[in-house]
Amino acid sequence: MTYSVVLCGCGAMAKGWLRAVQSTPDLRDALRIVGLVDLNEDVAQALAAEFGLADVVIGTDLQTVLEATKAEIVFDVVIPAARHVVVTTALAHGCHVLSEKPMANSMEEAADLLKAAAKAGKIHSVVQNRRFISGVRRMHRLVESGAIGDITAIHCDFFIGPHFGGFREKMDNVLLLDMAIHTFDAARYVSGKTPLSVYCLETNPSGSWYAHGASANAVFRFSDDVVFTYRGSWCAEGERTSWESAWRIVGTKGMLTWDGEDGFKASVAGSEDGLLRGFAPVEVPPPSRDEETHGHASVIADFLDAIRTGRAPETAGEDNIRSLAMVFGAIESARLGRSVELAA
Ligand SMILES: NC(=O)c1ccc[n+]([C@@H]2O[C@H](COP(=O)([O-])OP(=O)(O)OC[C@H]3O[C@@H](n4cnc5c(N)ncnc54)[C@H](O)[C@@H]3O)[C@@H](O)[C@H]2O)c1
Repeated sequence: MTYSVVLCGCGAMAKGWLRAVQSTPDLRDALRIVGLVDLNEDVAQALAAEFGLADVVIGTDLQTVLEATKAEIVFDVVIPAARHVVVTTALAHGCHVLSEKPMANSMEEAADLLKAAAKAGKIHSVVQNRRFISGVRRMHRLVESGAIGDITAIHCDFFIGPHFGGFREKMDNVLLLDMAIHTFDAARYVSGKTPLSVYCLETNPSGSWYAHGASANAVFRFSDDVVFTYRGSWCAEGERTSWESAWRIVGTKGMLTWDGEDGFKASVAGSEDGLLRGFAPVEVPPPSRDEETHGHASVIADFLDAIRTGRAPETAGEDNIRSLAMVFGAIESARLGRSVELAA
């Protein structure tokens, strides 16, 4: 069966979505792009030309293009501020919706989207593409295997200095809202724990080229007394970390580090006498399924499988709202200058 898709928001990221669809045979066969929507019609026209989409309806209003195309799926790749209206319009039209992250611009909007999806009886999922990569899957597998014991802490460092221009340099809470959710979501996934509370110090460091919140330092308490710390800056010039963060996972038997690229080191206590016991290396297993490691293509495939089978997608709105709660909890903590509890 082929599903008809309208893609709404034809900016930078939309190209990544179309590349993922066009370069993945199963997705190419199952999805037919029938409409493109952008407030700027020229941008939509240019995207259609770049990806050879000759027979698509192009417009500036989602409702109008949905009526013209009778699409079954909406790919939502608009900026976060426009997400609520786009998703509610798509759901009200009876479409399944896959949204870019972040799922919503506030917890109230997120809760409202869950209600709208339940009312429509449609799949509503979020592109949390950075959990669908080999490194995150490998960390998850090692933790699940128990090789380093029960985990007690996860520490992540994220220091990069990208000069995006555009909406990111004007928005509030830019690092927490636009980027940190990837690492927060991955920490929740790898640990398998529930975030309970957060204390966060958010700053816009001297020299920052962003309007607000280019740096954040957050300490989360997860269930089972697991601690997750995040130190991040988006205005850190010099030799950067990976976009996935640099990770250290501490367990009762040993530790795992991942540099966010190809460098894994896992080890447990060695057998030396004296103050320190030394260490014995542990092998980090490969991902159990290759198809879970292709970023956007994997999320889209998971979404499509959920539509076909009726199961919940891995990054369904109901699940993703817990990662969003980490972001908004951190923002609220920074605003209040104290720790805040996160909704279960
Ligand atoms: N998952 C990732 O790794 C990743 C990476 C980059 C961006 N993103 C996310 O993708 C989304 C889009 O980011 P981008 O970099 O493509 O931004 P962008 O500014 O390049 O593109 C957004 C487009 O949406 C259009 N738009 C805005 N409101 C609209 C509306 N109501 N209806 C139709 N079109 C509308 C704009 O005109 C613009 O062309 C953001 O939520 C961002 O956080 C995700």
